[in-house]
Amino acid sequence: MNKEEFYSQQEIVSKYEKRRFGGKSGNYINKREVSFYLKCLEGFKGKILDMPIGTGRIARNLKNITGADSSINMLRKCEHLKIPLYQCDAGKTKFKDDEFDCVISSRFFHHFKDIDKFIIEMKRIVKPNGYILFDTFNWSPRMYCKNKVYRHDITNIKMLAFKYNLDILKIESMFLLPPLILKNLPFKIVKMLENLEEDIKDKNKIRHFFMTRNVK
Ligand SMILES: C[S@@+](CC[C@H](N)C(=O)[O-])C[C@H]1O[C@@H](n2cnc3c(N)ncnc32)[C@H](O)[C@@H]1O
Repeated sequence: MNKEEFYSQQEIVSKYEKRRFGGKSGNYINKREVSFYLKCLEGFKGKILDMPIGTGRIARNLKNITGADSSINMLRKCEHLKIPLYQCDAGKTKFKDDEFDCVISSRFFHHFKDIDKFIIEMKRIVKPNGYILFDTFNWSPRMYCKNKVYRHDITNIKMLAFKYNLDILKIESMFLLPPLILKNLPFKIVKMLENLEEDIKDKNKIRHFFMTRNVK
């Protein structure tokens, strides 16, 4: 089953947020992830695309935002936000050239070994000097599972940024353990691990978040 099919299942969609971000530890992970995007876009007035929007956990905090996702069930979860929503493949959208000032792509690239086609499409629909924001997994136990995820480390993203003319404006690395494990730990332990993060090199952390500028 590919990722589009996986996230089309009603049961997966209805449990998406609870499974990943439920409880105090899960809520903490959600807040840290979302806050990276909100910090990058503080005071930003441009037109934003959240793709894939999923359940809307980032979009619900932002203004002037459009959502896109391949899963109709995910899009249904976002209907209450009363924002424009489109069903599409992130690698081949119907948006116009330079339609957006910013694209956010959260928790997406790790689903694919090859992310070139998504970067190419995002560059096409984002204006020159607009922003492309995304995150990657540096490691996950799910790299060895059937429903596989893929590693994209900082070196790999720097090479892609060079290849496709993206200026990397900011890299933030976080988490000593995969969110999947953190979520199930007592909150006290999660906070202890956060303190330890300061002593660990960024390249060894589990997740990397990137703010890039589209040079055209
Ligand atoms: C892990 S979820 C991330 C959702 C959201 N961005 C977040 O951070 O919570 C992955 C999302 O990618 C969507 N998806 C999978 N393949 C896709 C594709 N080829 N084009 C667009 N969306 C896709 C799924 O439907 C799902 O909503």
